[in-house]
Amino acid sequence: MKSQLLEIRRPIESELARYATLFEKVLSHKESFMDKPLSHVRAKKGKLMRPILVLLMAKEWGEVGETALHSAVTLELLHTASLVHDDVVDESNERRGQPSLHKVYDNKVAVLLGDYMLALSLHQAALTQQVEIVEEVAKLGATLSEGEILQLANVEREELSEEAYFAIIRNKTSALFSACGKLGAMAQHADGEYCRKAAKFGEIVGLCFQIRDDIFDYFDDASIGKPRGNDMREGKLTLPVIYAINHSGDVAARELALKVKRFEAAAEDIAQLIEFTKENGGIEYARQTMESLRAEAVNLVSGFRNADVRQALEQYIDFVIGRDF
Ligand code: IPE
Ligand code: IPE
Ligand code: MG
Ligand code: MG
Repeated sequence: MKSQLLEIRRPIESELARYATLFEKVLSHKESFMDKPLSHVRAKKGKLMRPILVLLMAKEWGEVGETALHSAVTLELLHTASLVHDDVVDESNERRGQPSLHKVYDNKVAVLLGDYMLALSLHQAALTQQVEIVEEVAKLGATLSEGEILQLANVEREELSEEAYFAIIRNKTSALFSACGKLGAMAQHADGEYCRKAAKFGEIVGLCFQIRDDIFDYFDDASIGKPRGNDMREGKLTLPVIYAINHSGDVAARELALKVKRFEAAAEDIAQLIEFTKENGGIEYARQTMESLRAEAVNLVSGFRNADVRQALEQYIDFVIGRDF
């Protein structure tokens, strides 16, 4: 594992081990017709960014109890289910360095197994025995779907605005990270001010997470275990290209972008638009956006009493911004 991630996990190493045991147990099934597809999902753990955030936020408030563990499992299951469905929606063939579930099986199994994991996620939320947590998770499930659908709807609109971009990523990605912070705090019965701070930190981290993820798509040299260059093929225009076009006022580039949105762009058009974005400071702008957000996030945790947790959270946001996988 990358040393940066090891550092981030250090204050919650034992809690993460308890989390992992519970996650494995929940995501197993005694019947092989279920356990075979589930074992494909279990085979690759991902970076565990969401449970790590839940547990760090919980730890700042004291000894981490069962409720925080159920919360962490709830949110990672919701994330995992959304990835399985997302790969169907995006027709994306690789996930976590292995074929997507719908490639190994088919769309039917992927849709149904995703639903199954969503149900497991809600069950874990119920096991916290905190109705406020169940409520958060239910609202979150709706928000994530709204984000994915808003993204589809946005492809059909001619407007290229940062506002629309942020509305999408707030819903589809940032809301989940925000819930991680909030549930970590709520699980520990933290006070309202701490819950708000934890949620806000997650929200900012989530925005950065998706901006960084979107930057990946402009480069084809890194190995991140999933395909790149998909966004424009799917008609999706992200922050770097939105900025480059709006800031330069280049009419030809805007025409190309509209072609992308109409699914009429050839591979050369997409390559040209990506080049244009790089030459017109789009990547740099997205990086600067993350830097400003970083400062806000660091400020939020500056008063944390547990120095190890505070440091891990600072490293967490640095990892999110700078990660290469
Ligand atoms: C992928 O999330 C989905 C996005 C929000 C971009 P991660 O990159 O956290 O996925 P895993 O869990 O580590 O595979
Ligand atoms: C990530 O969507 C957020 C989800 C709701 C799953 P993307 O489509 O942007 O993420 P990747 O690139 O497939 O991981
Ligand atoms: Mg996708
Ligand atoms: Mg998607």
